[in-house]
Amino acid sequence: MHITAVASTTPEYAMLTRQVESILEGERDLVANASQFSAFIYDTIAELNWAGFYLTRPTRNGEGQELLVGPFQGKVACARIPFGKGVCGAAAAERRTMLVPDVHAFPGHIACDSASNAEIVIPLIKDGVVLGVFDIDSPVLNRFSEEDRAGLESLVAAFLAGTDFV
Ligand code: SME
Repeated sequence: MHITAVASTTPEYAMLTRQVESILEGERDLVANASQFSAFIYDTIAELNWAGFYLTRPTRNGEGQELLVGPFQGKVACARIPFGKGVCGAAAAERRTMLVPDVHAFPGHIACDSASNAEIVIPLIKDGVVLGVFDIDSPVLNRFSEEDRAGLESLVAAFLAGTDFV
């Protein structure tokens, strides 16, 4: 049986964005900031079972690039995702947020946690380069609204502005 959202769970995103800026202030290290950001999202956004990063890295044979799991909160996940595969790979390849109300209806969805029913993936783009994605899963079908999309994109923008990827 699927759980369906009944009450509004939209948080005050403008306030959350200011909190992210404050948490990251004075620190620009990628691992530190990505860890803090994942923990903050997982802790403050309701009804999530996974929140974290996949970062653009060279493939193991050195030919091309793929997504490699980075700092996250939730269950152990698949480590590597090719560009174009699953929801994360689609967001990276198409350079746009993927809002998926029902992951079981998304062709090629990669199931890391069987509890996941809805997903939103926001690409990390700086100076035209896709540096990775931020992936959020929920056990609640249809969990993410257009308001969530806009709010989460502004949180990710605050993370990108406050973090160096060198
Ligand atoms: N569901 C994702 C894979 C990552 S896990 O959700 C953590 C996808 O289809 O790309």
